[in-house]
Amino acid sequence: MDVIHTQNQLIQTLKGLTHIAFVPTMGNLHEGHIKLIQEASKVSRNIVVSIFINPLQFNSKEDFKNYPRTLKEDLSILKELDIPFVFAPSEEDILDSLETIEIKLPGIANDLCGKFRPGHFNGVATIVCKLFNLIQPDIAFFGKKDFQQLFLIKVLVKQLNYPIEIVGIDTVRDHDGLAKSSRNNLLSQEDRKKAPQLFEQLNAMKEKVIQKTSSFNEIEAHALSVLNTSGWSVDYLSIRSAQSLENPVHDENQIVILGAATLGSVRLIDNIEFCIQD
Ligand code: PAF
Repeated sequence: MDVIHTQNQLIQTLKGLTHIAFVPTMGNLHEGHIKLIQEASKVSRNIVVSIFINPLQFNSKEDFKNYPRTLKEDLSILKELDIPFVFAPSEEDILDSLETIEIKLPGIANDLCGKFRPGHFNGVATIVCKLFNLIQPDIAFFGKKDFQQLFLIKVLVKQLNYPIEIVGIDTVRDHDGLAKSSRNNLLSQEDRKKAPQLFEQLNAMKEKVIQKTSSFNEIEAHALSVLNTSGWSVDYLSIRSAQSLENPVHDENQIVILGAATLGSVRLIDNIEFCIQD
C-alpha cells in the first residue's frame, strides 16, 4: 500500500493510471467507509482513499479539535482491505494559507445542515474540488447518510463539468438502527442507548407521510417535540423532495426526511428516503 502525504508525490504516483475509483474520507474509518471501499473495489483495482480532516468544513474550533484522529488504525484497516493508494496530506500541503477562492453553491447549501453550520458545505466543496483536481478519478463514492452533501456534490460535478461519476451508497446501521458515524464513539454510554431514537422518529414520520393523516408541519412538530422531551436538542427534522431538497410540491412522490440533532455535545445526522406510492 502506497501511503502518500504530498500532492507532488500523489501526482507522480497516479500518472498514467486509468479508471481510478476514489473514496474521500476524514478517517476514523468504520463499516460505512468500508462499504464505500467495497463498492469501489467492484469497479476498479485502482482505488484511492483520502484521509484528511478538513478544517474548512468545521464551523466550530471545538468540533474540529474533538474530531477523532486515528490515522494508524485507519491505515491498518486499509492495508487489510488491500487498498493500493492512500492520500493523507497535511494541512500545509493541501490548503493554501489564504484560501480566498470560494465555490458559490446553490441556495439549498444554506438550508438544513447549512443553516446550522454556516459555510460548512463551502468547506466541503473546496476540499472535494481540490481532491478531484489532484486525483482525477473516473468514479467517486459518497455515503447517503450525508444526503445534503451528496446532493451538493452532484450539483458541483454537473455545473463544473467534472467527468466523474458520483455514486451514493446506502447508510450502514448498527443493530439498533443508529447510522454508523465517526461521531458515535463520542457519545456517552447513556446517550448511545438513546441515539437510535433519531432514526426511530424518521421512520415514524415516514409512516405518517405515507398514511397522509397529518400535515407535514404537524408531523415535523410532533417528532421534534418527542426528541426534545427525550433530551435531544434538535436542529431540524424536515420532510423534503428527494429530487430538489426543497419543500415537496403537491403530489411529490420521492421524499427524503432529514434530521440533525444533538445528544450531549454530539451532533448526529440521519435521513430516510422513500416513495409515497410505489
Ligand atoms: O463526508 C466526509 O467525510 C467529508 O465531508 C469529505 C467528503 C471527505 C470532505 O472532507
